[in-house]
Amino acid sequence: MLFKLLVYIFVFSLPILFLVRQRRVQSPSTGSSAATTTETDEGKSLKTIMQPPRDDLDPPKYNPITLKELQEYDGSDPSKPIYVSIKGDVFDVTRKKDVYGKGGSYNTFAGKDGSKALGMSSLKPEDAVPDYSTLPENEMKVLDDWHSFFSKRYNIVRRVTDMPEAVAPLRSTTANAETDSS
Ligand code: HEM
Repeated sequence: MLFKLLVYIFVFSLPILFLVRQRRVQSPSTGSSAATTTETDEGKSLKTIMQPPRDDLDPPKYNPITLKELQEYDGSDPSKPIYVSIKGDVFDVTRKKDVYGKGGSYNTFAGKDGSKALGMSSLKPEDAVPDYSTLPENEMKVLDDWHSFFSKRYNIVRRVTDMPEAVAPLRSTTANAETDSS
């Protein structure tokens, strides 16, 4: 009788344990919360799906580049690096070719400044534009979190020189790039 009871408990607890485990793994990656929780939960649950921060990054290089020139680095030419610009800071994401290269799930951010879409947690190409000036405060925060996420994982290699006028006053939060081009 006792044995039977133990078997019942075991059999019923298995699916419950499975569900609890699933919830733990999935919750940070759903929809826009993937972006918003990136930094706040860093080092905790997100460690399981997002790559961890790196400690081998180079000091930022702010060599000037235009939005037009940036287009060459969208992953369509395998001999060239892949660049993603956020608020005009250009990150070298080449080592994540599978994600940002041709056919990759985040290729929409490659070879351009798609700051607005990052703030909106949107993957629509039409949202991936450099003028993020119209984002509401909460989305501006999401964008800043992404900038911080990338800063901890990818080298800054360039700085966009022709970002839209509308965002000029908003860019002071990032490095004083124009003067610092090493
Ligand atoms: C159901 C929706 C989504 C799921 C399940 C999801 C899932 C993931 C996963 C698993 C990763 C880690 C990938 C890796 O390290 O290889 C990731 C990273 C990322 N996601 Fe999403 N995501 C979703 C929506 C979005 C949206 C809407 C955006 C638009 C802003 C977005 C932007 C990103 C970016 C920029 C990364 C960083 C990739 C990197 O490591 O460089 N995600 N996402």
